[in-house]
Amino acid sequence: MSTAPGYQSPTVTVAAGLPKRGVGSAVLIVPVVSGDDDAARVVPTPFLDAAAVDEIEAALSALGAKGGADQTTRVVAQSLPVASVLAVGLGKPRDSWPADVIRRASGVAARSLSGTESVVTTLSEIDTEAAVEGLILGAYRFTDFRSDKTAPKDAALSRITALATAKDAKAKAARGTDVATAVATARDFVNTPPSHLFPGEFADRAKALGKAAGLEVEVLDEKALEKAGYGGIIGVGKGSSRPPRLVRLIHRGAKQQAKTARKKVALVGKGITFDTGGISIKPALNMHQMTSDMGGAAAVIATVVLAAKQKVAVDVIATVPMAENMPSSTAQRPGDVLTQYGGITVEVLNTDAEGRLILADAIVRACEDDPDYLIETSTLTGAQTVALGSRTPGVMGSDDFRDRVAALSQEVGENGWPMPLPEELKDDLKSTVADLANVSGSRFAGMLVAGVYLREFVAEGVEWAHVDIAGPAYNTGGPWGYTGKGGTGVPVRTMFAVIEDVAARG
Ligand code: BES
Ligand code: MN
Ligand code: ZN
Repeated sequence: MSTAPGYQSPTVTVAAGLPKRGVGSAVLIVPVVSGDDDAARVVPTPFLDAAAVDEIEAALSALGAKGGADQTTRVVAQSLPVASVLAVGLGKPRDSWPADVIRRASGVAARSLSGTESVVTTLSEIDTEAAVEGLILGAYRFTDFRSDKTAPKDAALSRITALATAKDAKAKAARGTDVATAVATARDFVNTPPSHLFPGEFADRAKALGKAAGLEVEVLDEKALEKAGYGGIIGVGKGSSRPPRLVRLIHRGAKQQAKTARKKVALVGKGITFDTGGISIKPALNMHQMTSDMGGAAAVIATVVLAAKQKVAVDVIATVPMAENMPSSTAQRPGDVLTQYGGITVEVLNTDAEGRLILADAIVRACEDDPDYLIETSTLTGAQTVALGSRTPGVMGSDDFRDRVAALSQEVGENGWPMPLPEELKDDLKSTVADLANVSGSRFAGMLVAGVYLREFVAEGVEWAHVDIAGPAYNTGGPWGYTGKGGTGVPVRTMFAVIEDVAARG
């Protein structure tokens, strides 16, 4: 099972009209809004004539459908060449539809149609890219580790027909497919259990993906890491029989730009394949959720592969530290001192604050490439969920870039929110024996303290952002919108939006 295939995205076709035949078993997805009379009204579309709209609305009315957001109603419409119609509510009518409303409605539709192999959608006339993304992500499932005993009996969604009349609809659908496929790649990594995804295996898979996408790939094994002085990655990884790695994936896209306009974006992602806490061991309750502690690494790898696939005109260099944080007789101890890559010494007061140790090494390495911007993302602190909950990433860093990353994150529906890094918190990281301690002595502002620690390792002149996704990377609640249980793929779409924004505006 180590060559698990993961999720296979459905094939997407764009059509400028309802297929006349051959879709007899397909379900047609139609957006509806709640009208003044509180009844569901089909959003006007060139693909349905007045008679078809009347037929659908009459059927919806008979069932009491209201068109509220996320409400789905399945009806039969005999005049149409499809098996049935799924009405998906968008809420109150609006003049224009934010992309995430369309993405979300598509996701809700896909989840409610589980078991349907072929869908036709008119949501794509409103926003082709968002409709395709939402359908693919809503239909996502991870079945690699189910035997025939519990494997789903029903078929996965395999065909999407996106109805759209715009000239660029095909390109938009292709882009939506690529973006959703990247998010699904990140989800697959997170959903692969720690028994099967350990640093060596993770590095091999990242390398294979990178090679297939035409990226330059470098992998440092434990000997190379030791020799080069990556004390943080070695320190965290040394309690495990499965040694650490540092993976570098490089997309060279800037040469498409004029010399003066060339930009370089560094990505860094936390790749703890399992976090027991180490000697500062975590409580047993919910420890299994620490399979998601490589969510930042998964997102970074998927994003640089997506940047290559989309041929974005920026250099993107991913630097991904991978380690398993285990307690053992070879593990680091609370009180140990290690030397981060670059020379700063750290007193490890708590071995469960391991993310910042591997990230500091990776950030220093990433800055050696002289990037214009650096985005680092990690499931770094439980304090992120205390401050912002399970769906809102905390974005910290240099003021302007932090705000830019958070704004783009809002735009794509991943909803990152800007947070400060108060100067005075640095005093809490003073050590009696080393340059820094890896934790402060208080419970205050845990998310920000981690960001303040990382700031010490970012080179002068590099605009940077730290995105804490402790909650948002992994959905432990019920499914919602286009997000199922387990790995979410956050913040792939935020990072990709930033990279494209840098390509467009510098
Ligand atoms: N991986 C955890 C953070 C985490 C918590 C991620 C919950 C996802 C859900 C991280 O390595 C950790 O253990 N952080 C400690 C830091 C503390 C020791 C300063 C924490 O948050 O308790
Ligand atoms: Mn930890
Ligand atoms: Zn961790």
